[in-house]
Amino acid sequence: MNKQIKGLIFDLDGVLVTTEHNHFIAWKNTSDILGIPFDEEDNEQLKGISRVDSLKKILEMGKKTISEEMFNELLRKKNEFYLNSIQEINQSNLLPGVLSLLQTANFNGLKCAVGSSSKNARFILSKLQIENYFSVIVDGNDVSFPKPHPEVFIRGAELMGLIPSECIVFEDAQSGVQAAKAGGFTAIGVGNPALMDFVDSYLPNLNEFSLEEYA
Ligand code: BG6
Ligand code: MG
Repeated sequence: MNKQIKGLIFDLDGVLVTTEHNHFIAWKNTSDILGIPFDEEDNEQLKGISRVDSLKKILEMGKKTISEEMFNELLRKKNEFYLNSIQEINQSNLLPGVLSLLQTANFNGLKCAVGSSSKNARFILSKLQIENYFSVIVDGNDVSFPKPHPEVFIRGAELMGLIPSECIVFEDAQSGVQAAKAGGFTAIGVGNPALMDFVDSYLPNLNEFSLEEYA
């Protein structure tokens, strides 16, 4: 077991907070406009990837091409659906174990970062009132190459002053696990049993995480 862990990097949607379902419904509404069938299984392929790449995938699924203008309009609409659905988001939407792990990590001097593809990450973290637990936030506005590229996590580690082998990445999506492994991080899968074979360790939720094993 790697006892050299000095930093924890958390994906946002589906790891810290319950927003994955909101993304799904917003994409479902967008697919309906396009007349492309879209269900929760299809949505698995979108988890973790950027807004632009998600719309490209939906168009691929429906074998459709649209104008650049329509593409941008649908991105805007999807975000409008999404933001409308999270207006009331608050600490009750945190996933199990999140708050106590952040408190324990901070208390023990471990650095914490967010590594998210979402361009809404800072807004959501402020609604959840948990920004103060993180010394670093890297989101979809900060990277040139979205997940599954490791840039978001590499930037997160660098900004914490750590190297990848000193950090754990917590992820709920295939694209995020690929990004973490490609960057040389320990990857812990959370809340998505489909990740089990691809991660260093799998947990149903963050209540099951034992910091003493790693730090
Ligand atoms: C990821 C989510 O965290 O962010 C995806 O897993 C989402 O479902 C992506 O599409 C981009 O989010 P946003 O908020 O920038 O549209
Ligand atoms: Mg996620």
